Amino acid sequence: MENVTIDYSQVLDFVSNDEITRFESATIKNIEALYAQTGKGNDFLGWVNLPEEITPSIIADIEATAAELRRKAEVVVIVGIGGSYLGAKAVIDALSHSFSANMPSHNPQIVYAGHNIGEDYMYELLEFLKTKSFAVVVISKSGTTTEPAIAFRLLKLELEERYGKAAAQKRIVAITDKERGALKTLADLEGYKTYEIPDNVGGRFSVLTPVGLLPIAIAGFCIRKLVAGAQIMQSQTNASVPFAENPAAQYAAVRNALYAKGKTTEIMVNYNPKLHYVAEWWKQLYGESEGKENKGIFPASVDFSTDLHSMGQYIQEGIRNIFETVISVNTLTHNIQVPWDNDDFDKLNFLAGKRIDYVNKMAELGTTIAHVDGGVPNIRILLPKLNEYFVGQLLYFFEIGCGISGYILNVNPFDQPGVEAYKKNMFALLEKPGFEAETKKIKERLQ
Ligand code: PA5
Repeated sequence: MENVTIDYSQVLDFVSNDEITRFESATIKNIEALYAQTGKGNDFLGWVNLPEEITPSIIADIEATAAELRRKAEVVVIVGIGGSYLGAKAVIDALSHSFSANMPSHNPQIVYAGHNIGEDYMYELLEFLKTKSFAVVVISKSGTTTEPAIAFRLLKLELEERYGKAAAQKRIVAITDKERGALKTLADLEGYKTYEIPDNVGGRFSVLTPVGLLPIAIAGFCIRKLVAGAQIMQSQTNASVPFAENPAAQYAAVRNALYAKGKTTEIMVNYNPKLHYVAEWWKQLYGESEGKENKGIFPASVDFSTDLHSMGQYIQEGIRNIFETVISVNTLTHNIQVPWDNDDFDKLNFLAGKRIDYVNKMAELGTTIAHVDGGVPNIRILLPKLNEYFVGQLLYFFEIGCGISGYILNVNPFDQPGVEAYKKNMFALLEKPGFEAETKKIKERLQ
């Protein structure tokens, strides 16, 4: 059976095998610490065993809820921010038809809210929903995050006005903490169908809980295959797997070897537009986990070949502190070739009969060679195909790679203290009750 694999041959002009394997024992020690829960942030390690521990009854319950919402709604709005929506969006976009919103389909359209504070966005969403039957899945671990709370208040009101309170309650699912937070209180009061986010799983590591699984199932994808993929990757990345066969340990070692050589920015690259949000999810995972104590690789991303026409210049010739990690999909679902044209005015007949994907693969190879020659090391993550099983592998690969890597950096990869700074100022400026002292301070500062 094929699996997600890593190829780091194109970093060896920049770091030697010795410099990479110097991290070998640290990676294995760190995997042991993740499993034994002896490292930093050990109260947030529930995600490590999620693929193995998720029970058939939870899966069946999620599938039943998804089936009910699929029956009821043309559109399902996923309300959440950060780890409460990025994993679901990453998977759904990776597996969906690129134009499914415009195609006749039995799947409800999935849209998102509460991941920004855009007034126009919210207005236009409500306008769009006016002519559609819809349901809402509201996701917030803390249950107090401002962005999703505002969006949910508006959507709840719209549902209640349209369907009446009792029917609206049946169109809302809440995913939140088991006891804390305003969302939990509201869900209990209203009697919404509710799923718990385990205490020991942080937002950005929660895609394999109902946080990710319910929206993915509503979108019509097989969460059993996704979990099966994650399980396989868990079995291939635990501490008993030798470094030479452990893709996550290798990824963590290689990126830290590059970091030690001054490569402080990692650019996640795709050559398939469906993977754009996988990079967005990955950026949150690695950025929030590693960027602390004035340390950490800066996670960036580009979509190629699109961004070769914008960011390509910088990557080729800008400051040489970057390396690339490419997610490369081997076999595509569809087959379309460049057609023959008798006139050949566009001089493209040299490509006639060649698959579009062949052109894309040559763009990838040519870019890799150019970037490596230009001083940009290249790591390749190979995905045999874009389906639930391999995407499940990819998710777990990046999660465990992140835990190992964060421990190499000697930070707590499972907290995010820096996220609070903007919230404190925003609440002070909005004069939220309880923030009087901060309001006074910030007003003085702005004078
Ligand atoms: O990874 C995290 O913990 C954060 O990014 C959260 O997911 C994000 O801030 C949303 O928080 P909550 O789910 O509590 O609304």
